[in-house]
Amino acid sequence: MSAIHTHLLGTGSHLPSRRLSNADLVAQLAREGLETSDDWIVERTGIRARHFVEPGVTTSDLALQSSLNALQAAGLGPQDIDLIIVATSTPDMVFPSTACILQRKLSESSEQAKGILGAAAFDVQAVCAGFIYALGVADAMLRAGSARRALVVGAEVFSRLLDFSDRTTCVLFGDGAGAVVLEANDQPGGILATEMRADGRYVDILCVPGHVQNGTILGDPVLKMEGQAVFKLAVGVLEETALNVLAKAGLQKTDIDWLVPHQANIRIIQSTARKLGLPMDKVVLTVQDHGNTSAASIPLALDSAVRSGHIRRGQRLMLEGVGGGFTWGAALVQY
Ligand code: ACO
Repeated sequence: MSAIHTHLLGTGSHLPSRRLSNADLVAQLAREGLETSDDWIVERTGIRARHFVEPGVTTSDLALQSSLNALQAAGLGPQDIDLIIVATSTPDMVFPSTACILQRKLSESSEQAKGILGAAAFDVQAVCAGFIYALGVADAMLRAGSARRALVVGAEVFSRLLDFSDRTTCVLFGDGAGAVVLEANDQPGGILATEMRADGRYVDILCVPGHVQNGTILGDPVLKMEGQAVFKLAVGVLEETALNVLAKAGLQKTDIDWLVPHQANIRIIQSTARKLGLPMDKVVLTVQDHGNTSAASIPLALDSAVRSGHIRRGQRLMLEGVGGGFTWGAALVQY
């Protein structure tokens, strides 16, 4: 029997229409008495703009649009999917999962689309490493024969977790969604290796330390981050995890055609590229336009490079991410 491989059939993404440049955000924060500047944000992070949802728009709304775009790129419909995984830290509800809400919305998109009802659907919570985790879980399930075609989505409304009185964090994040359609078949290539890692000792350096109890919110339900500690940990683990997946696949740094990193900060991305010996023209960069969209950032970057024609069929992509938990990981994919 020939081995089963997981292939990327199509990618899609969606950004909310409300775009805030740094100048827009500087003006908004100034009205609240908070001082920041375009120069500070660009120099420390590389971010020039981000997108925020309008009130009432939820993570599943963004996930739906990115999923429909990915399905269209794959030449498939919702009825062809038998596994849905959504990576998010901003679920629509405490439960059920955003994946189930997405499934309902997809099933309502056409008469035939009702065929998606019955597919397995669940969320993955690994913050900014969420898409890597979701991809790794989907790959393992497809290769084990638990499903044949998967929709894997990273979707976030991070704006609703931001403390707009904390200038050290509120300038960094944005909203958006990206999706991929995966298929298991016996053609060689596709997802070559994945790795998922976590170290729970660092729970407190990046967290939203609140929860719902007896109808009220306990703790502080906004994002808290020790920026410098996160920065130091991120640059260390990203190189290591990329090298680990290369070793698993029996490949070298020079076999990477594109680095598709989590888009948190240009300086973290530059440092990782340098350690992997990759020039910046082999790195997909969207942080300047999207900010950090957490679990959505990698599939958003992937889709933008596929649609612009930069990433082509057969090329090897190193996807990697790091986030709260601390969680991190990588996936090496032959597109
Ligand atoms: N505008 C102007 N000044 C600011 C701002 C701002 N928005 N934010 C902070 N400052 C000031 C600080 O108050 C400080 O002033 P001081 O020297 O007078 O005290 C000065 O800038 C330097 O602050 P630092 O926090 O030391 O700045 P740093 O160079 O570390 O940059 C940053 C901060 C951008 C957050 C950086 O630490 C970083 O990128 N960390 C990693 C963050 C990250 O990538 N997080 C996401 C990864 S995981 C995930 O995606 C969820």
